[in-house]
Amino acid sequence: MAILPIIVAPDPQLKTISTPVAEITDEIRELVADMFETMYEAPGIGLAAIQVGVQKRLLVLDVVGKGQEGEDPEPIAIINPDITWVSDDDSMYEEGCLSVPSHYADVVRPTEIKLSYLDLDGEKQELHADGLLSTCIQHEIDHLDGILFVDHISALKRNMILRKLLKQKKMAS
Ligand code: NI
Repeated sequence: MAILPIIVAPDPQLKTISTPVAEITDEIRELVADMFETMYEAPGIGLAAIQVGVQKRLLVLDVVGKGQEGEDPEPIAIINPDITWVSDDDSMYEEGCLSVPSHYADVVRPTEIKLSYLDLDGEKQELHADGLLSTCIQHEIDHLDGILFVDHISALKRNMILRKLLKQKKMAS
């Protein structure tokens, strides 16, 4: 297993649309293991493949998280997700993103979703999610379509965050 470098915005790779996983190979299973390790180490509760530079419709998440007192980790790997239903009512969460480090903003999304996807054995799974899990899945699926949480907030606030991140990149290089 390996910890992979996470791409930080603004970066054209984060704007790309990821393609479906054609076959679940050993290479994909290894990528998923590396993504879990990278996510837990960050630490974060979700990570999409494009955030580590792989343009595939694949994400990992664990909204319980590693090392939380008295909680067992609940890792979920989601391949080729398809949202089949969203609730009429919305919820607001303060979101962050490993590709937008140190910035947070309130984002409104449907409260509940139904999702179908493939698991690591290639079996089709159905999931009805609400609360933080629902928000996290929607946030990660956005990544597969080149969308960041800052694309859901005002242009003013988005540009301010992206300008700060760009400045930090320039200072670091
Ligand atoms: Ni994110």
